[in-house]
Parts: sequence; C-alpha cells; structure tokens
Amino acid sequence: MDLGLKGKRAIVTGATRGICRSLVEILAQEGADVAFCARKQDEVDATVEALKPYGTRIIGGTANVKDAEGYKTWLQQAAEELGGVDIFVPGVSAGGGMDGEKSWYKAFEIDLMGCVRGFDALFPTFKAQGSGNVVFISTTAAVETFIGPMAYNALKAALITYGKQLSQAHAKRGLRVNTVSPGPIMIEGGSWDQVRQQDEAFFRSILAQQPDGRMGEADEVARAIAFLASDAASWINGVNLVVDGGFTKRVQF
Ligand SMILES: NC(=O)c1ccc[n+]([C@@H]2O[C@H](COP(=O)([O-])OP(=O)(O)OC[C@H]3O[C@@H](n4cnc5c(N)ncnc54)[C@H](OP(=O)(O)O)[C@@H]3O)[C@@H](O)[C@H]2O)c1
Repeated sequence: MDLGLKGKRAIVTGATRGICRSLVEILAQEGADVAFCARKQDEVDATVEALKPYGTRIIGGTANVKDAEGYKTWLQQAAEELGGVDIFVPGVSAGGGMDGEKSWYKAFEIDLMGCVRGFDALFPTFKAQGSGNVVFISTTAAVETFIGPMAYNALKAALITYGKQLSQAHAKRGLRVNTVSPGPIMIEGGSWDQVRQQDEAFFRSILAQQPDGRMGEADEVARAIAFLASDAASWINGVNLVVDGGFTKRVQF
C-alpha cells in the first residue's frame, strides 16, 4: 500500500526523542519534507543530520511549546519555509506527575494549549490550502483509570474531545483531525525506562497487564500516526486510535 506521503509537508513538535523522533524518520523515509522542533539545539542538529540521507527537506528548530508566542512564530515560519503544511503532529507533553496545581498548569500549557495554539497558528494555512491532516497524541491513561488522579490523564482526555470537535467543524474545509492514544511505550531514557530503574515492582505490574508481556516501541506508535496522517487514511476522521498492544481492557464499540 502506498501511503501517499511523498512530497507532503509535515510539522512535528518534540521530535528529537521518543515517538515523534521515530515519526519524523518514517515521514522522511516515505518522502515527506519535515520541519520539527525541540528545546535542545544539539539534539535538533543531530536529528537533522540523521534524517538528511533520506533526501527530503528537513528543517530543525528550537522552540519551547510553553512559550506561546515563540512557539506560534516557529510554527508559522516552518509552514512558510515548507511552502505549506499537509501534516501537523504536536507531540510535546509535560509528562505525568502529581505536584498539585503546578502539574495542572504545566499539563494545561503544554499538553492541551500546545495543541490548541498549534492548530490555531496553522489553521489559516490549512484554510487557504483547503486541506490538512492533524494527529494529536493522547494516552491510554486518558481512556481508563490509570495510576491515580492526575492532570496528565485528565487533560489528555480533553485533547481527544477537542480533536473530535475540530474534525466535525473543519471536515468541510478538507481537514482531518484524529488522535492516537498509545499505551506504555519503552523508550531508552524515557519515562518508563526511568520507572523501570526507580520502581521495579510497579514496572512489573504494568508489564503483567500487557497481553504479550512487553511494552510498545516508539515506531509501533509512529507508524499508526503516519498512517492516519496519510492519504491512505482519507476516510478516517475524528477517531481516537488506541495503540497499546491490548493494554486497555475496555471494549471499544
Ligand atoms: N512514552 C509513552 O509511554 C507514552 C505513552 C502514551 C502517550 N505518550 C505521548 O506521546 C508523546 C511523545 O512522548 P514520548 O514519551 O515519545 O516522548 P517525550 O519524552 O515526551 O518527548 C520528548 C521530546 O519532546 C521535546 N520536548 C519536551 N518538552 C518540550 C517543550 N516544552 N517544547 C518543545 N519540545 C519539548 C524533547 O526535546 P527537548 O528536551 O530538547 O525539548 C524531545 O524531543 C507525548 O505527547 C506523550 O504524552 C507517550
């Protein structure tokens, strides 16, 4: 199956590590031009170098999603440099944590407003083109009770609803908006790697809930995002695709 990603222009945030690092590699491999950001210049440079051999246009920038104005400016510049934008995946998260109100504001600013501001910044471009594909990244922690009451879980749930609303509002303008909700993903140096080192019993209890006894890998999620963002998924709009190897136990009707 041809995903039809050749020549597409993609903007991905938080793409020097984890799921979105894997995603930008897949997009470049499939022939898409890619602009991505993260905060650390050295990791941005290393990612640009790693993607260059695929031969598409790669634009790496430093932007902090928490800095609303700087973030919007970077997105608009990236869209301009790419000559438009076909795919937008805002992947940055503040992560979990139960540090009272601080965690709520952080998750609101980054996980939720990072997507809201990102969409708003790129919407004029999508509208002028009459096309665009957006994939939000939520989590299975939004769709089932997980660990404990937490800003991350609640605001990632809000993101699923927001994505659905956008999909309904803008389908007539040629936009598709979908969400991918990954289960626990093992990434070297990532959050589950840290849990493995700091709380082995808890880590094992999570593994025990995976039907095949392992966590997912970044590219197993990234491939699902690439598919949803591609023309091959032209009739999929407004869904929340759970990518978790069977970690969640609910039946999705
Ligand atoms: N990993 C999992 O198990 C899992 C499960 C479910 C859902 N998810 C979701 O999947 C997405 C990706 O998660 P991940 O675990 O693969 O990677 P991650 O560790 O959350 O993301 C790391 C990337 O984001 C960048 N970043 C972090 N804060 C930033 C900020 N304020 N502004 C700009 N860039 C920033 C990092 O670079 P710098 O540090 O240089 O900025 C790096 O490129 C997130 O939305 C997460 O909630 C992950």
